[in-house]
Amino acid sequence: MAKIFSGVQPTSIPHLGNYLGAMQNFATLQKGNDCIYCIVDEHAVTLPQDPATMQNNIRNLAALYLAMGIDPKQSILFIQSEVPCHAQLGWIMQCISYMGELERMTQFKDKSKGKNAVPAGLLTYPPLMAADILLYQTELVPVGADQKQHLELTRNLAERFNHKYAPVFTLPEPYIPPVGARIMSLAEPTKKMSKSDKNKKGTIFTLDPENQIVKKIRSAITDDEATIRYDREHKPGISNLLDIFSLCAGRSIDELVGAYQGKGYGEFKTDVAEAVVTMLKPIQERYRNLIESSELDEVLDEGAEKAYTIARSTLNQVYKAMGMGRVSRL
Ligand code: AQP
Repeated sequence: MAKIFSGVQPTSIPHLGNYLGAMQNFATLQKGNDCIYCIVDEHAVTLPQDPATMQNNIRNLAALYLAMGIDPKQSILFIQSEVPCHAQLGWIMQCISYMGELERMTQFKDKSKGKNAVPAGLLTYPPLMAADILLYQTELVPVGADQKQHLELTRNLAERFNHKYAPVFTLPEPYIPPVGARIMSLAEPTKKMSKSDKNKKGTIFTLDPENQIVKKIRSAITDDEATIRYDREHKPGISNLLDIFSLCAGRSIDELVGAYQGKGYGEFKTDVAEAVVTMLKPIQERYRNLIESSELDEVLDEGAEKAYTIARSTLNQVYKAMGMGRVSRL
């Protein structure tokens, strides 16, 4: 039995990359493990968010977590800002981080590029993420490949703290799936599929209606070779569609390549779209039943309470080790 933690930002509706790279595994990992899943709204505000949209996104994400198979009887689901220990340990993690290591983070470089005024939160996002994970003595973190560097930093910070103060933290390992860890944009298949992509044709959101999913996949950028084979370097568009098809239909890449020998891209894309629609349909139906229900608030209340108990116990150990507050009262 492993302790598992992961989070998703309520910056928009989760897309197919979020689902195939991370969220799909959240449900699978519930069996036999202690899982904690979070709506990381403190991360979302590292860039400005419209308050009303953010409220909707938080509720949508909570409903989608459940619709995607998170069972509140097995797992804890909560909102990051409702458990203050995240911000508190986040501060400690910032204090033991070095500017140089934070400035080297690829995501910081990408997101701050071309900005005149870079919010400090963009730089200190990874220490907050480290706090999220370390509070729960997490052993395994299911994430997409883009989070590997942040996980490495988390391990470094945990080791640094354990060495300097006391062995409080468990060192977590990333859980990155062999297929789906990096779903690419349909419009620019050398770039990862992303919520913030300005070109909305490149991203399939998990609540997109069927006709939009079909349209986006039919207009996906491919190549002019007219052969269906897996080659990430020379055929990024077709390889990305093969990854998506394989994960949505539960068929191996080799099987799909064999089945589509001599067939055209049109027929292939139609079948990819059908596989995506078929996979998302039951999730969308469950989402519609959940979004207006009072069950959501009950799950989130209970989740925040359970998460707080675990997180506070770790934070107390941290404060004791560092001599903060009144140690005798902790
Ligand atoms: N394209 C992707 N393929 C596979 N996994 C992905 N993830 C993100 N994009 C892909 C994984 O999804 C989980 C939740 O991500 P997040 O909500 O923390 O946001 P993000 O990584 O910042 O996602 P986006 O879409 O790329 O948002 P923006 O555009 O705001 O930067 C994580 O485990 C992530 O690895």
